[in-house]
Amino acid sequence: MSDEERLGELLRKAGYSEKAIDYYIKKRNVGVIEGARAAESHAGLCGDSMIVYLKIEKGLILDAKFQAVGCAGAFASGSALTEMVKGKTIRFAENMTEQEVTRDLGRLPGPKLHCVRLAIDALKKSIACCKELQDSGSDCKCDARARSCNQYGV
Ligand code: FES
Repeated sequence: MSDEERLGELLRKAGYSEKAIDYYIKKRNVGVIEGARAAESHAGLCGDSMIVYLKIEKGLILDAKFQAVGCAGAFASGSALTEMVKGKTIRFAENMTEQEVTRDLGRLPGPKLHCVRLAIDALKKSIACCKELQDSGSDCKCDARARSCNQYGV
């Protein structure tokens, strides 16, 4: 049995769906989009954090990536969420719920459901940050790397 298979077995026993296991082991969309909008989100007492980067053009999310300091649930959630928003409108992303991401993943252990909230919070903060910048016309205060939002025309 390979290391990957052993890890999968462990996650399966812990209550992760096959999709969540695949998203954790093979991680989707981890990384940074240079010049994109980003805002950091912390997940309460667990102390994990996530940043979601969005590349937006004319209200459409052309690309989405994330970075996380977190558990298997955080990486599975970040992978699912970024896959779900790519090619969608900002309005769609703004209205996404924890339940939708959880449903897409199939199943997470009960104590890991807050990891989905971390991903949703990070997404919504990035969108809000972008809108704030558009409204104020000045640099966003939440992330110094997120200065070129205007070019994306949100
Ligand atoms: Fe904190 Fe999963 S335990 S995000």
